[in-house]
Amino acid sequence: MCGICAGISEKINIIQDVVSGLKKLDYRGYDSCGIGYIDEKQIKVVKAVGQIKNLEKKIQNLEAKIAIGHTRWATHGIVSEENSHPHISQDGKVCLVHNGIIENYENLKSKEVVYYSQTDTEVFANLIAQQQGEPLSKLRMACQKVVGSFAVAVLFEGHDEIYLAKRSSPLAVAVENGVVLASSDISVFAEKFKSCYILDDDEFCVLNSKNAIFFDKNGKKIEKNCVFLKNYDFFADKNNEKYFMLKEIKEQPMAIRKTYFEYFSKENKLDFELLKKFKRFHFVACGTAYHSCLIGAKYLKEICGKDAQVSLASEFRYEKNIYSKRCLYIFVSQSGETADTLACAKMIKDKGYKSLAVTNVPYCSLNNMCDFVLPTFAGKEIAVASTKAYTCQIFTLLIFAQMLANKSCEHIKKFALDFKIQNLREDVLQFIFQFKKIFFVGRGQDYVTSLEGALKLKEIAYLNCLGIAGGELKHGTLALVDEETLVIAISTQKGLKEKMENCIEEVRARGGKVLLVSQFEHNVKVDCKIVLPDFKEDFMPIISVVPLQLLALNFCLKLGYNPDKPRNLAKSVTVE
Ligand code: AGP
Repeated sequence: MCGICAGISEKINIIQDVVSGLKKLDYRGYDSCGIGYIDEKQIKVVKAVGQIKNLEKKIQNLEAKIAIGHTRWATHGIVSEENSHPHISQDGKVCLVHNGIIENYENLKSKEVVYYSQTDTEVFANLIAQQQGEPLSKLRMACQKVVGSFAVAVLFEGHDEIYLAKRSSPLAVAVENGVVLASSDISVFAEKFKSCYILDDDEFCVLNSKNAIFFDKNGKKIEKNCVFLKNYDFFADKNNEKYFMLKEIKEQPMAIRKTYFEYFSKENKLDFELLKKFKRFHFVACGTAYHSCLIGAKYLKEICGKDAQVSLASEFRYEKNIYSKRCLYIFVSQSGETADTLACAKMIKDKGYKSLAVTNVPYCSLNNMCDFVLPTFAGKEIAVASTKAYTCQIFTLLIFAQMLANKSCEHIKKFALDFKIQNLREDVLQFIFQFKKIFFVGRGQDYVTSLEGALKLKEIAYLNCLGIAGGELKHGTLALVDEETLVIAISTQKGLKEKMENCIEEVRARGGKVLLVSQFEHNVKVDCKIVLPDFKEDFMPIISVVPLQLLALNFCLKLGYNPDKPRNLAKSVTVE
């Protein structure tokens, strides 16, 4: 993952802009950070383990006109200062920050070089240094030799420029009022710039103090169109909440309403007619977005009678002979930058098949790659654990299914207006806090909610928990159930009520405790219950996940962790 931010200016001390850019990028990784700059023609580097504030302490009063910065999510090598970026070539002449993975880095190692870190990036820095010619040619030649993904910003000793290259990792550039900035995410440009340029794969760029000059893979100068930033929702603050995650959970009703009004406003230009001709749909995504795809596929099957299937992007990439021309491939991703999802979208594009991106970030790489875009309007999501983006994905896929089936959306509007968040009762929280072993169980759409509930609890409270299909319990997991086990049973489909009751009985017979999450009565005894508001079944995946999000958040806080920045994770997974 990782985030890079680089800047150059004759007018101002660029260090502040680069550091404040890194702070906005720390959702991409926060294991360590670093900055490289030019001081009296010499390349210098400062690094710190942990958050950007640790770096800030080390660079107080530092001034420079050219700097490259990095915030790291460790892939190759432990979290340490040596493995932090920037990395410098052995001869001291090339300094590099990198987002991505160089897959063939072991093969690219040189016997003449002593490597100080365990990273692929240090190998890349040395590879560039070993090439012949001017800086841009060196960078181009090195990029030809590497396999993998990269967005890099490079300093060359003796050159007052920053050199950029990109393949499969995002990189954008903005130029205004004597400041030139490059970043992994355009939100970094929000305060100072009106427009920016987004680099495409295998393009290069040279930043000087006045301008950005773009080149194609052959080193030929190219002109690029700029993207205007005025309509983009950059600004995210905690709105008086202590954590982004809590704020984002609470924002869900607003986000759902916004999504409704965006799709049903007169300005909405999306042509659903074009999409109706597809008979088959294949969803592809990772993590939470994969869960929303499972619900989306159910909507397409049940509401439209279409054939729909779902794959994890990391698996779909390596499947053989599964492609069909008559199928629409739907890639769902909050960030639109997830490496596995992007790789699948590219694979489908290369085959000439049609694809649809469902994303929450305008101008993301996935939107660029796909034929159609179905935006979700959740607003910027900062917390690593996805909440409002998930419910907006489900809601958007429901609208999509209703439109494809030519069905009325009146009940969708009513839901959008009526949906509210209910707090968890204190007694429910105290009950849940007693357990360390928690299983989430559900059938049909509630099975998906059980997967998502378990993912949230793992992600931020670090509890070893599982989501299980109700009917599968007796095929193995029941062996783990004892008096110390909590089973959270999600039951929102009246047609499956008896089946869920069986499941609950099986747990109770083994001494396990049960928390039931449902909007209706069941004929079994349970230890605790969360009563959900009663909506039409199609909306229940949105309704029933909210208490599970709150449960995970409260558990995380009770254990003293920061929900916004869970260990080992990052918001945007731009590596395989
Ligand atoms: C969500 O809570 C997780 N952090 C993770 O599973 C995430 O959904 C996954 O990485 C996919 O991200 P995307 O939606 O940006 O593609």
